[in-house]
Parts: sequence; structure tokens; C-alpha cells
Amino acid sequence: MNSEKTQPRITRESLQEALYLFQFIRPYRFHFVAGLILLFLSSGVFMLFPYLVGIMLDVAQGVVLEFDLKHVGARMAIILVFQGVISYWRIKCFAVVSERTTADIRLALYERLIALPIVFFERNRVGELVSRLTNDVERMYNLLYFVLAEFIRQCVVLLGGVVLLTWMSPRLAGVMLLTFPVIVIGAIIFGRWVRRLSRQRQDVLGEVNTILDETLQSIHAVKAFANEAFERLRYGRVNERVVNISMRAASSRALFAVFIVTILFGTLFFILGFGMYLVQTKQMTAGELIAFITYTAVVGGAIAGLSTFYTELIGALGATERIRAILRTPAEKEERPQVNRQAQRLNADIRLLDVHFAYPTRPDVEVLKGVTMTIPAGKKVALVGQSGAGKSTIMHLLLQFHRPQRGDIRIGGVSIYDYELSSYRSNFALVPQEVILFGGTIRENIRYGRPDAHEEEVIEAARKANALEFIQQFPDGLDTVVGERGIRLSGGQRQRIAIARAILRDPAILLLDEATSSLDAESERVVQEALDNLMEGRTSIIIAHRLATVRSADLIYVLDGGRIVEQGTHDELMARENGLYSSLARLQFNLTDVATSSA
Ligand SMILES: Nc1ncnc2c1ncn2[C@@H]1O[C@H](COP(=O)(O)OP(=O)(O)OP(=O)(O)O)[C@@H](O)[C@H]1O
Ligand SMILES: [Mg+2]
Repeated sequence: MNSEKTQPRITRESLQEALYLFQFIRPYRFHFVAGLILLFLSSGVFMLFPYLVGIMLDVAQGVVLEFDLKHVGARMAIILVFQGVISYWRIKCFAVVSERTTADIRLALYERLIALPIVFFERNRVGELVSRLTNDVERMYNLLYFVLAEFIRQCVVLLGGVVLLTWMSPRLAGVMLLTFPVIVIGAIIFGRWVRRLSRQRQDVLGEVNTILDETLQSIHAVKAFANEAFERLRYGRVNERVVNISMRAASSRALFAVFIVTILFGTLFFILGFGMYLVQTKQMTAGELIAFITYTAVVGGAIAGLSTFYTELIGALGATERIRAILRTPAEKEERPQVNRQAQRLNADIRLLDVHFAYPTRPDVEVLKGVTMTIPAGKKVALVGQSGAGKSTIMHLLLQFHRPQRGDIRIGGVSIYDYELSSYRSNFALVPQEVILFGGTIRENIRYGRPDAHEEEVIEAARKANALEFIQQFPDGLDTVVGERGIRLSGGQRQRIAIARAILRDPAILLLDEATSSLDAESERVVQEALDNLMEGRTSIIIAHRLATVRSADLIYVLDGGRIVEQGTHDELMARENGLYSSLARLQFNLTDVATSSA
């Protein structure tokens, strides 16, 4: 990522952009405004303290005679209580705003993310994305809860303080104000530096989390290949880079702190000396000097605070950038032409017309090179061919995960892109090549096919998928937790759950991508029966490497290198002596012969 280019700066656009996120605050604007008012009040009241301290000193020295110490003390106590009450409500108001707003932003992000087209997830590393967004949302939260409030408070203190100082002693105030430009210029220079480094740190931190995420996801592979040391090295290297960049950022911050402190204290000491002279020459009372010095310290603190909060503010602006980028990425429904033709149950022929397709992440490799095929309504059609021929890709195109660059797909003569997407997809059920389950229970995973299904229907579907038996052997039955991605089940068990899900869905079009590949011969026979029942009367597309599975298909398409090279029934294809299908079949059946004879 080009960090220079994306480095946030407060410009008109970046502010306007940030205001975009303010739409999330709008529902809580009353709390926000109330919080702001309380903030002004509490900061204002706070400004009274130094003044009262000065008066106390003058009372004690007998310079001021109108009050006694008890009076002043009582006033201070009242202010203290008042200040406490205000602060309490202010924090509560900002808490409502920040909690609710960030919850809304999180929800909006989630909604947007799951609506994004598949290609987004092929382009981005999801672990990195999640870690960044979590970070960014946290920064937004800090901004709303704390940073913004502090920033405003310091502004109020600064302005109020300067006005008071000028009113008390224009000459001393003049000296003080002279240091302003120095500090501002310093802040700008250091600010840029810190910002760039903290951005880099974020990027590297994202990488660290990605590695963590990826290795833990593939922990079995890591261990099986005894690659712990290799992974540790990889992780260690990036981790080291985080430290390096962080240390550089820390030194820049440290230098900045030294710079500020030196200038501030230098000025303070100078003012102190000059003030003493004014007291000595009776141009000022000691109480006034104390008040003045205290105000100066307060104003100095505000300046120092402002610079930190300014950096935070800028950083948070950078964080909003990624959030905004995600929220503005077109969802898959927005990418397509806006259509609202609802797909009813699709019981018509499916036609692929000269479909050319390359995955967007690999645009120069054409995976499908002009595929034309018809899948007759209600029939069982098989796709066979070598690994990488493009079989799964055809299913992905049917599900509209991607869109072909050329050609069209029609169902009943209507282009599938003319249908509203959800209604279109609700016609399908997919049993994918690699079944990944949700981390919940078996029941939840089956019910995913139709969330409003009754318990009996779930059980019935499980039975039909030949899954009930193994489910009942678990002590928790349907309530068995399957573990992350279904890791606590065997491949064949996962597959049967996916089949049960498809059965429950009762789709118009069934897509089976190697649906029985992980089953033993006996289970496969039973599940195949269930699938045959399921396929009855609906359009089914099956992919299988084991040709025995596709034998009974009404029509078989043989794919090779993204083209259809043969089509026909099993018998027709077997009749072609040097056809691809018959040679594949010979190979498989010979192998089985060898296997059975040697057993
Ligand atoms: N998401 C993707 N991005 C880029 N290229 C991909 C993607 N998915 C698949 N491919 C490529 O597209 C080609 C066809 O893949 P596809 O998954 O359709 O093969 P297949 O016929 O289903 O093979 P198999 O029998 O091994 O499942 C392959 O060369 C593969 O590398
Ligand atoms: Mg495949």
C-alpha cells in the first residue's frame, strides 16, 4: 500500500469525508450535543480555580479585604461538587454516543462485508482485513469516547486561558503567546513524522495477525510438515519489523515531548522571573502572579494535550478512511444492473451460451473458453473431466459468484443477470467440494438450508442424508458442536451434513460438486440412493471423478481445458473408442479390476 498517498491530512475533502461517518452519530445527536454543552460547562468552571487560588493568596496576605478565606474555600467546594456532577453526566452522554455509534458502524461493516462480491475475498487476505477493521473501529470508539471530547476541552481551556491571561497582564501574556508559532510549527513537523510511522506500524501489525491467523487455520498442515520452525521464523521476522517501526515512532514521539516540555518550561521560567519583578515593583500582587502562572501552566498543558490529541485525531481520520472504503465498496447487488424481476421456482432449461471466463484475480488465464451447453429442466446432468478443467467454475458462474466476460447464461430464455439476486439464488442448493461448516451445532448447520424448518424436518433430512445414525451416536445428538469450520467431524460426516442441508432446502436446482467423494463405498451407496431420490424431478448438476457415480446421468458433458469436448449418455460416450470419456472410464475400471483382483 502506498502510505504516502493514503496519508491523511486535514483538508477540505478529508473533513467532508469524515463527516460522512457523522451520519452514524446523527441518531444520537441529542446526547452528543448535551455532552458538548456539559463539556463546555465543566471546562469553563475548571477555569475558575486558578483565579480563586490567586484571590486566596491575596486574602491571606491581607491585600484583598472584601472576603475571608472561609468564603473563598466554600466557593471552591461548591464549584468542585458542581464540576463533579457535570463531569459524570458528560461522560455518560459521550459513552452513549461512542458505544452506540461504534456498534452501528460495526453492524454496517458486517452487513457490507457479507454483501460484497466473492472476488473481494479472493483479492484480500481476510485475516488482515478483520484485524485492521477491528483496530479502526476501536480507534473510532476512542475518538468519540475520549479524543474528541478532550480535544474540544483543551481548545476551550486554551482560548479561555489566553483571554484571561491577556486581560490580567497583556505584557506577560505577550511573552507567552510568542512561543505559540514555535510550538505549532514543531507540532506540524513532528506530527507528519509520527503519522507516517504509525501508519506503517498498522500495516505491519496487520501482516503479523495474518500470519497468526493463517498458521492457526492450517495448524494440521504446519505440524504434519514439521514446519513450526519455519513459521516461527516467518512470524518472528515480521514481528521484529513491528518493533523496529514502533521504536522509530516512539523516538519521534519522545523527541516531540522533549521539544514541547523544553519550550513550555523555558517560557514558564521566564514568565516567573519577569512576574517576580512586576511583584517587586508593585505592578502586580503575589496572588495575581500565582493566578497568572497557574493559568499559564493550564494553557501550556492544553497546548501539549492539543498536540497529542491532534495526532490522535488525525490517526482516527486515517482509520475512518478504511472503514469508509469498505462501506463504499459496491455490494454485489449494486454491481449488477438494477433489476427487480423476482425469480420464481426455476423449472426451465439452463443454457450456457459461448461462455468465456477468467477469474478476476488471474485475468490472463481463461478458465472457460467458449462453453456452450444445455442442462434440460428436471434432468440429471454430469460434468466430468480432469482436475482443473473448469467444472467447479461452471457451478460458481451459475451461482453468480462471478460473471463471465463474454457469453450469457439463460434459464428459460431469460438471462440469469436479469433476476433479482436473492430470489435467483434461493433456487439453488450446493453441496460443495470442500465442506466447511459453521462453528455451531449440527442442528444449526443443517437448518442453514432453511432456517424456519421444524425439528422433524431437520431429523428427516438428516435421515435421508444417511447422517442420522452417526449423529445419534454422539452423546449430544443434533446439539453436538462441530468445532470451528466443522473440524470435529470427519470429512464424510461433514459431507452428509451438507447433503442434509441441501435436502432440507428442497431447491429447484441442485449442485453437487464431488458430494460423495469422502464416503466409503457402503455409505456412498446409501447416500447416493438418497441423492437419487432428491434429484428426482429437479434439475441437478453433478460433478464426480468416480464415473460410476455419473453413469445414470441423463446427459454427460466432458470438459477438457475449459472446453466441452464430448457430450452424451454413458453408453453413447463409451461407444466412442478414442474418446476422452471412454479412456478415462477404461482407466478407472481397469484400476478397480486390479484393486479387486489383488485384494
Ligand atoms: N478463485 C480462483 N481464482 C483464480 N483461479 C481459480 C480460482 N478457482 C479456480 N481457479 C482456476 O481455474 C481453473 C479451473 O478450476 P476449477 O475449480 O473449475 O476446476 P475443477 O474442474 O473443478 O477441478 P477439480 O476436479 O480439481 O475440482 C483451475 O486452473 C484453477 O486454478
Ligand atoms: Mg472442482
